[in-house]
Amino acid sequence: MITEGAYAVEPWSVRETELNLDVLAQSESVFALSNGHVGWRGNLDEGEPHGLPGAYLNGVHEVHPLPYAEAGYGYPESGQTVINVTNGKVLRLLVDDEPFDLRYGRLVSHERVLDLRRGVLERTCEWTSPAGSTVRVRSTRLVSLTQRAVAAVAYEVEAVGSRSRVVIQSELVANESLPEPNGDPRAARALKSPLEPEEDITAGRRLRLVHRTRRSGLRVAVAADHVVSGPERTTTASESNVDVARLTVTSVLEPGETLRVEKLVAHGWSAARSRPAMSDQVEAALAAAGHSGWQGLLDEQRDYLDDFWARADVEVDGDEEIQQAVRFALFHVLQAGARAEQRAIPAKGLTGSGYDGHAFWDTETFVLPLLTYTSPDAVAEALRWRQNTLPAARERAAQLGLRGAAFPWRTIEGSEGSAYWPAGTAAFHVNADIADAVKRYVVATGDTDFERDTGVELLVETARLWRSLGHHDPHGTFHIDGVTGPDEYSAIADDNTYTNLMARANLLAAADAAERHPKEAARLGVDDEESAAWRDAAEAVNVPYNDELRVHEQHAGFTRHQRWDFAATRPDQYPLLLHFPYFDLYRKQVVKQADLVLAMYTCPEHFDDEQVARNFAYYEPLTVRDSSLSACVQAVIAAQAGHLRLAYEYTAEAALMDLHDLEQNTRDGLHIASLAGTWMALVAGFGGLRDEGGTLSFKPRLPEKFSRLAFSLQFRDRRLHVEITPGKAAYRLLSGPPLTIHHHGAPLTVDGDGPVVRDVPSLPARPTPEQPPHRAPHVR
Ligand code: BGC
Repeated sequence: MITEGAYAVEPWSVRETELNLDVLAQSESVFALSNGHVGWRGNLDEGEPHGLPGAYLNGVHEVHPLPYAEAGYGYPESGQTVINVTNGKVLRLLVDDEPFDLRYGRLVSHERVLDLRRGVLERTCEWTSPAGSTVRVRSTRLVSLTQRAVAAVAYEVEAVGSRSRVVIQSELVANESLPEPNGDPRAARALKSPLEPEEDITAGRRLRLVHRTRRSGLRVAVAADHVVSGPERTTTASESNVDVARLTVTSVLEPGETLRVEKLVAHGWSAARSRPAMSDQVEAALAAAGHSGWQGLLDEQRDYLDDFWARADVEVDGDEEIQQAVRFALFHVLQAGARAEQRAIPAKGLTGSGYDGHAFWDTETFVLPLLTYTSPDAVAEALRWRQNTLPAARERAAQLGLRGAAFPWRTIEGSEGSAYWPAGTAAFHVNADIADAVKRYVVATGDTDFERDTGVELLVETARLWRSLGHHDPHGTFHIDGVTGPDEYSAIADDNTYTNLMARANLLAAADAAERHPKEAARLGVDDEESAAWRDAAEAVNVPYNDELRVHEQHAGFTRHQRWDFAATRPDQYPLLLHFPYFDLYRKQVVKQADLVLAMYTCPEHFDDEQVARNFAYYEPLTVRDSSLSACVQAVIAAQAGHLRLAYEYTAEAALMDLHDLEQNTRDGLHIASLAGTWMALVAGFGGLRDEGGTLSFKPRLPEKFSRLAFSLQFRDRRLHVEITPGKAAYRLLSGPPLTIHHHGAPLTVDGDGPVVRDVPSLPARPTPEQPPHRAPHVR
């Protein structure tokens, strides 16, 4: 775990003031730069030492056979793994015959700063070589948010105290060797040398490598160009072989003189385009980047981010650490989704190879809500990716004997990548999560073109799945049996409440959208009979409830199960999945992550406040949070139930998941869902935001620690600003026509005339529920 103080607490940056090689891999994830298309981990410029080298292109993966001891029908046969593409960030340095390697010599100072407003990673260090030459190195790195294919580095060496002969080798490196995986089954398998060479070319200060993946057949091209400035006697030379292209810059620096290399790197990949076409593509991207120049790229980055922060910033007064963490979170979620453009948003974004680079329901349920209200265009793109993968999802449904589309539990290219049925394909709720994201986006933007061209098809095909997966019993009640809900410690259960309620919403949304877009619906073969069947199923869906306990059941029969023996479970036996057999987890009352509690957030109309409080009190002592997706949801519902202190603690846990490496696997990449969950905890938790049938509703309430919480939302061509202070909430329309919203259940209208201020009603006092022993939220 990264101990407190590893990063200075500052409002707009993440600063590391000394280099700690023990947590190098974690810091590489924290300092990763990405635009959703290109991802560069925060590796040191010189490539070594490293924790985990990482350069990714969204969608570039290799396939590998999935082995099974027992054969079974419908098991996916091949898995997909994100691979390292050609690494363009390497700049090696030689100082008077000695490699600049921080493991040797004396590191006088080393500082790295992730600047959240400028969107750059800056590094400054001073180092004395074993032979006694001292240099200062400064680098600034960016992955462009405005030019999707482009990343760039400005690298500067200064001689300190005495004359130095320096050599900078700026490289493109393919098939970089990776450390052996660390034994965590969830971490990516490092595929050895996945790239087959096709072309290596240098021309003056330009470099280019083209490769192709062996099995998945994807072509990857990376090119670089350089601007060099240094003393007169500076020379350059370039060379390449199949896996390395290199520009060597040599100079002799008098004390105080600097040698500077600006490196622009362009990336491209394709499953279809030819080698010459790919070469041209990256050369063209490089020309565009060169046209902007280094300073131009910096300026564009700043403008892009100024615009983002004006829409998306969340201000927290009273807790500087959470203030920093939420901005860090927003920045990384933006990076993961900004330019993904019809590709997946993986669970780790492009910050590491954890989870094999797969995307899960994390995208639709955790990431897209934030983006819907701050960067809606990215949401449309993410959902178009799902639409593009419909052929694979339809095929999967047919293979399973179902209708419509069965979206994969985990994937890169659209086919099911999970080799474990109970916590993979059986988690059918991913279909309803996608439908929910479609609905939320359409309500929040009024984008009817999207609804017609993309939304209807996704809603119809997912609704078809539910209608064929579920059945009406003789009394007419609709059941969905044998599925896994969000809580992966219960599997293949009947009538998971979350799944049923989300499926219900999916079925109704499909019927409504089909009515609004009759032509599109007819093209998809929807007739009145079919949409009536969806409505019937939706209205009759079973919602299991235990009358005696007066709580909703996570799934039918859940509350009858034996409770997990929490008292006998040692702290080092968490996460339980790595210490106990699944069959035992499955038959006991123990919850990996919010499930019924999540249903109360995503389907609020089915639970009144009393019900929320009772259910929360019941599930809280059973929930162990062995998934990073849980704390933020528990924060939201704790806030609704009035446990503001607990909600605050869960918010901090979600927010600091990566900055404090709470799950000790940040090295594999950031927890993008938990980062997005920080926004959720603040805005939906303390802001109380819900979408009530197209009306934004708020039930703001601050925890004691906060003296102010403020955020903005984009909603139907408007920008709404919400500011919460103790006992008061102020709503202000920043732009757009008047808007009616709800404040603690009462309607109010905001227009351009200044804020509407309302009191925050006080809460009924309730005893705070306990967590299982050793599973209280991480307290700072
Ligand atoms: C969680 C899933 C999640 C996945 C990827 C698992 O541990 O249980 O809900 O989708 O991680 O984040």
